[in-house]
Amino acid sequence: MLTDPFQRHVTYLRISVTDRCDLRCVYCMSENMKFLPRASLLTLEEIVQIGRCFVELGVHKIRITGGEPLHRRDILKVFRELGELEALRDLTVTTNGTQLPRFADELRSAGVTRVNISLDTLRAERFQALTRNGRIERVLEGLDAAQRAGFDRIKLNAVILKNRNHDEVVDLVTFAIERGVDISFIEEMPLGTVGDHDRAECYYSSEQIRADLAEHYELQPTAVSSGGPSRYYRIPGVESRIGFISPHSHNFCDSCNRVRLTSEGRLLLCLGQEHSADLRHVVRANPGDDDALKQAIVAAMALKPKGHEFDLNEQPVIFRHMNHTGG
Ligand code: GTP
Ligand code: 5AD
Ligand code: SF4
Repeated sequence: MLTDPFQRHVTYLRISVTDRCDLRCVYCMSENMKFLPRASLLTLEEIVQIGRCFVELGVHKIRITGGEPLHRRDILKVFRELGELEALRDLTVTTNGTQLPRFADELRSAGVTRVNISLDTLRAERFQALTRNGRIERVLEGLDAAQRAGFDRIKLNAVILKNRNHDEVVDLVTFAIERGVDISFIEEMPLGTVGDHDRAECYYSSEQIRADLAEHYELQPTAVSSGGPSRYYRIPGVESRIGFISPHSHNFCDSCNRVRLTSEGRLLLCLGQEHSADLRHVVRANPGDDDALKQAIVAAMALKPKGHEFDLNEQPVIFRHMNHTGG
């Protein structure tokens, strides 16, 4: 066995298990999004095989994302099988929350440690507008179910857009504190074209959010890191962590410890670039052959880049939408 096969200290794999979702957030999908044909998705067995090989190569954290991962049929099987891998320390999921009333308990017993729930607004009509017709009640019920299920940590993710929800940042933090959960504020990334929604007009920086919060809360920077892009702050006397993911104002690729597997089995080395390796092809050309798969994974790591630039005023250079990569 190789000792540090990846060299770049990749310890974290994010797996998108579907590009479909019951919501259509304005920053994530276009109005008439075409979804992938089901045959092009990795099967559940292929997902588990790839996840297991990554863990055997030294990855100790896996996050399952989408689209909406809990929409993939029989997805609990993937959580259960990955949850049994002893070397996997952290099995997590990023979800829009709508299916959590059904799945929270089973996810917990499958070994899921932490759950991230997307919630950009606390107002029902706004939620409906931002998600093109979603119902916020389902998400709030999902959060309740997750809290009852007893995960180690729950985090809310809020993408903040100017003139859409930027006036809610204090309310969102207050809500997170009352619920005893963490919250991350995310700058929108220009991934894929989303038609009716003008990204340069919507940009609202993490710095501006911190300034808004500072009028109500004392934010203290911390050294906490998940090895990822989030910078965490604390408020004295409060459990909740406040995170900021700032792809525009902070280029964090050099220390990035994560790679992504798309629902079609492409291994992406960076969210902001197109470098990828086709693991679906490798798995299907070499059925059951873990060694061939591991060799392909190790070879792909050499493609991991050292940086990215996003420019809001350019046409998108990345044509993948977020629901393909899982964020
Ligand atoms: P941890 O697993 O706790 O580090 O969570 P996380 O905050 O990275 O996970 P989550 O799925 O909640 O990610 C939130 C969002 O952060 C994603 O959907 C993306 O919008 C953004 N994000 C995550 N990782 C990266 C990254 O490597 N680069 C950039 N630019 N953005 C990222
Ligand atoms: N920019 C930033 N974050 C995005 N998300 C979806 N699309 C974008 C985008 N264009 C976030 C969602 C969710 C996570 C999976 O990705 O809000 O929290
Ligand atoms: Fe669905 Fe998440 Fe995309 Fe919103 S951001 S449409 S909840 S996948």
